[in-house]
Amino acid sequence: KRMLLEFKRKIIIRLRSVLFEESSLTRLQKENPYDVNFVEPMHNHNMSPEKLLCELRDAMSGQVKPLRPEDVEDPELRRMLTTKPLFGKDEHYEKCAIVSNAGALRNSYLGAEIDKHDLVLRFNHAPTIDHEVDVGTKTTIRILNSQVASKPEFDFTSSSLYKNIKILIWDPMPFRGTLQVWLRNPEFNFFRSFIKYKSQHPDSNVAIVNPEELWKLWMYLQQHTYSKMRLNPPSSGYLGLALLLPHCSTINMFEFVPSHRMTSTCHYFSPLIDSTCTTGVWHPLAAEKLLYLALNTASDETVFNKGYVTIAGYSTLKC
Ligand code: C5P
Repeated sequence: KRMLLEFKRKIIIRLRSVLFEESSLTRLQKENPYDVNFVEPMHNHNMSPEKLLCELRDAMSGQVKPLRPEDVEDPELRRMLTTKPLFGKDEHYEKCAIVSNAGALRNSYLGAEIDKHDLVLRFNHAPTIDHEVDVGTKTTIRILNSQVASKPEFDFTSSSLYKNIKILIWDPMPFRGTLQVWLRNPEFNFFRSFIKYKSQHPDSNVAIVNPEELWKLWMYLQQHTYSKMRLNPPSSGYLGLALLLPHCSTINMFEFVPSHRMTSTCHYFSPLIDSTCTTGVWHPLAAEKLLYLALNTASDETVFNKGYVTIAGYSTLKC
């Protein structure tokens, strides 16, 4: 037990020190590619998980909004967006799992536990084949960044990784950007491959995030973090949490807060060594991970030995 507390302390100190390093003013002024307005960090550090979640729900007006047909002028793209929503009106799951891509999942033996969930969310091109013992076999939904959805090496339109599941794609726009400018000039142009995918799979359940939502998530995070954060969009992991909160009673997030298996290997499926994948160099990952800890209701044993945090869905809240 003492070792567990010692490890928890070490992780929190590490995440906080990354956060403070990022907040050094000179660095922020130099690196603001999305032209983000300054937002005051919070001053109340002691909110309960329930209060934090109630405020997140309010900040997002209940859910992460997709790009809708009426947002778009291009007739072809508009036609492809006119389909069923990612989640039906009464679609609800009891237990949901969000599986990170962290190297710490390797040799975790969490696969069977992950597969017990009613819904499993994964990211980008993360495989399950050859990693079943550690990450399970079930995939209900994938969140893809626009690089994975557009670059030929990820094979979005033909790989079996992206078949027969729900898919949500995101691409960032400048903080004060407009949808019309972003639609003409996304960061990575995935619209062609989105249209191709939809034409090949007309019944598929694939949606695009309205990029305004990414900055709402960023602002909530900044307002609930006690020092200034990186001025870049949040990571797919935090978007995944916000996406599922309205649709799940309980969400277990696997290896988002680093467990005792923490490693400098970036992904469980690749030998690449890069410790910034876990504590963050581009996305405000450290702030995200401190938020998960503040929202968590699982024991230290579950978080730091087993490797997941537990977060209550909106339906359980009494705001
Ligand atoms: O690296 P990638 O973006 O594909 O990973 C998906 C998500 O998993 C990230 O957005 C991040 O939230 C989480 N992740 C992590 N630690 C890592 C790698 C990924 O927390 N080492």
